[in-house]
Amino acid sequence: DWIMGDYIEEAVARIREQVGDEEVILGLSGGVDSSVAAALIHRAIGDQLTCVFVDHGLLRLNEGQMVMDMFAGRLHAKVVHVQAAEQFLGHLQGVTDPEAKRKIIGREFVEVFQAEAAKLKGDGNKGAKWLAQGTIYPDVVESGGTKSKKATIKSHHNVGGLPETLGLKLLEPLRELFKDEVRELGVALGLPADMVYRHPFPGPGLGVRVLGEVKPEYVSLLQRADHIFIEELRKTIDPTTGKSWYDLTSQAFTVFLPVKSVGVMGDGRTYEYVVSLRAVETSDFMTADSAELPYSLLKKVSSRIINEVRGINRVAYDVSSKPPATIEWE
Ligand code: XMP
Repeated sequence: DWIMGDYIEEAVARIREQVGDEEVILGLSGGVDSSVAAALIHRAIGDQLTCVFVDHGLLRLNEGQMVMDMFAGRLHAKVVHVQAAEQFLGHLQGVTDPEAKRKIIGREFVEVFQAEAAKLKGDGNKGAKWLAQGTIYPDVVESGGTKSKKATIKSHHNVGGLPETLGLKLLEPLRELFKDEVRELGVALGLPADMVYRHPFPGPGLGVRVLGEVKPEYVSLLQRADHIFIEELRKTIDPTTGKSWYDLTSQAFTVFLPVKSVGVMGDGRTYEYVVSLRAVETSDFMTADSAELPYSLLKKVSSRIINEVRGINRVAYDVSSKPPATIEWE
């Protein structure tokens, strides 16, 4: 067992020694690993760190604001907020194939990040010399040859995985830590538990949760529907365990289906879109079971989504297991 306070002191000292008075760039995604890395490095070197947050417009509702409030607002870290939604959505126009969408999002991401990093690097000897990444121990193992099977089924894009480092030196202070340790460290560094214990979110974000072509209208409907689902999961406590259904599930989210179904509202007929809720329990994400959410919770979420999100008139619940289905729908 390790004592977190001592660990932080050691890690901070190590980072200071490595970096000296040089500048560091870090790609902040809002995910656990890059957030904890940012908080730790900021603790060590303060304003020598600049975080680059590429907002591809495929994030959860209010996520961009949340990341900025947390890092720029509360931690007083330097954060460049790159608002690239239009650019990403532009490149996704007309594209329906899931793998093609992943490739476009991954490629754009690298391009936008590298352009921003190149500005910070400059060409004199004043610019940034380091690229920090939230690589954790399981990532190190995975890239050491024993590639996980899921990576061959779907091409995974993660903010950590830049193909080249722009000639910057790599700073990876979480390399020896397992996920649980990263979470504990995050809490000890003052990040909110809510943020540090969040469900995983795929790099391509809502790009793979809007089935088929990603249109801005669809993204907005999905963001609002998903926000309601997650809010109700967090609010609803299971009496036997005393835990929220958010904490009882490994991953939960909403999927937008670009098909229309008929409904009634007041005296009129509606003809609007459908979403599916997905919630799974899993220990390794290689196999998963759909979560047995209480019916009352599902009905509450359904009625809230249909009443509050104009444009959606039907909510389904996905009960498939992985395999043969996958956790995501694309
Ligand atoms: P599947 O859908 O393959 O998902 O059962 C397994 C886990 O991987 C996540 N996932 C991704 N993560 N980029 C990511 O960073 C991706 O392209 C991607 N696709 C799936 C998924 O959310 C689940 O946790």
